[in-house]
Amino acid sequence: MKEIFERVSIRKYTDKPVEPEKLERLLRAAMAAPSAGDQQPWEFFVVTDREMIEALSKVHRYAGCAKDAPVVIVPCYRTEGLWVPQYAQIDMAIATENLLLAITAEGLGGVWLGIAPEEERMDRVAQVLGIPPTLRPFALVPLGYPAESRTQEDRFDPKRIHYLA
Ligand SMILES: Cc1cc2nc3c(=O)[nH]c(=O)nc-3n(C[C@H](O)[C@H](O)[C@H](O)COP(=O)(O)O)c2cc1C
Repeated sequence: MKEIFERVSIRKYTDKPVEPEKLERLLRAAMAAPSAGDQQPWEFFVVTDREMIEALSKVHRYAGCAKDAPVVIVPCYRTEGLWVPQYAQIDMAIATENLLLAITAEGLGGVWLGIAPEEERMDRVAQVLGIPPTLRPFALVPLGYPAESRTQEDRFDPKRIHYLA
């Protein structure tokens, strides 16, 4: 549970590269997510190319913090061969949250930058990555060693709980 209560969005990163073995553990965590019908619609693009990262940071006005990240993971989903394609974005949201929790667990920082369900944003990211139309970008997750620190706010609100006994 620790990472659930420690995770915060981190938008500033040091230059230190993220070790490949850490990146693999992050992606293992993402792929451990449940998915509808176990369809696992995900494909993960791990971007370290500086020009590509800069282009990704410009796909919308709230994506600028990606610019100086040492790595940006772009969770995408397949549109073909899925058992229940209407659940693909929900599946991707769960995998992306797993990714964020793993980022925290590894002593890294990252943030979810919204792409899906906004088709224009999805198209722009697809163009930067050069991926085929059978793959749709879901989010941008810039990450790295944190250059800022924050503590999570307590969002627990008992009024939002409705016991029906
Ligand atoms: C679906 C989704 C889209 C988001 N899009 C952006 C974004 O475009 N830019 C950004 O800086 N943060 C984005 N965030 C991060 C939220 O702003 C952040 O999670 C929220 O303010 C709560 O802060 P915390 O993550 O530190 O708890 C997004 C988060 C989610 C879940």
